[in-house]
Amino acid sequence: MGREMNSNVRRRAPKPKQDTSEGIRLNKYLAQAGITSRRNADYMIAQGKVRINGRTVRELGTLVLPGDKVDVSGTAIAPIEERVYLVMHKPIGVMTTLRDPQGRRTIVELLPKKKMPRVVPIGRLDFDTAGVLLLTNDGELANRLMHPRFGVDKTYRATIAGRLSPEDVKRLNDGVMLEEAQAAGAKVRVVSVRAGYSVVDITVHEGRNRQVRRMFEALGHPVQTLVRLRFGPVSLGDLGVGRTRDLTPREIAALGRVGRVEEGRTT
Ligand code: URA
Repeated sequence: MGREMNSNVRRRAPKPKQDTSEGIRLNKYLAQAGITSRRNADYMIAQGKVRINGRTVRELGTLVLPGDKVDVSGTAIAPIEERVYLVMHKPIGVMTTLRDPQGRRTIVELLPKKKMPRVVPIGRLDFDTAGVLLLTNDGELANRLMHPRFGVDKTYRATIAGRLSPEDVKRLNDGVMLEEAQAAGAKVRVVSVRAGYSVVDITVHEGRNRQVRRMFEALGHPVQTLVRLRFGPVSLGDLGVGRTRDLTPREIAALGRVGRVEEGRTT
């Protein structure tokens, strides 16, 4: 949005008290940029120290619009986006993408409606897989967690046809041969065996395309349903299907450690 347009929009706005989809309040902008508290930002604004696009702003409810240039006593203040970390219980029948050219449902429909920065999924679940899907706007963390080098553990609950023999379990532990390469060894726990099918928890640390399905398929036990129960330190718990929640500070700290600990080991 150009400057002239921005200032027109701002003039027309009747001193808003809340952020809008257009922008955020100037005091919040300054606080998020780490300049000062929101209260002190109001004081600085009232004192005439803050300018937007070169014009001194004294109205406390002023919005900073996309493309605006803010400075305090002549020092430019770049926006720092609030970090957002979410976990979604992705349902089956939903694409792990922000847009689908074929018009299928995407995770965007399930994101909270409140105004928040744009987030991206950390990794991908198949259309027909449900469970833990992390989303964030922290690009650095997302890249680290998706990088094969860091091998974050992911646990899936699979309903498979038939029952696993001790030999099948050994092959999963040793690494099943897939079309392109041998998968790394997986941890397996048989949860229950029923007539014609079994429920198995499997933990892998790679992120190959349709990996779990292909591993069981290679053993002659096609997957009937697949749910990701855990991604690193973040578990599904009792989060309802299609629901999203913020990660706890503890989970965020633990995720931050995943990459770093692994980094120490592998480099
Ligand atoms: N493995 C699969 O086969 N599918 C997924 O969605 C995730 C892991």
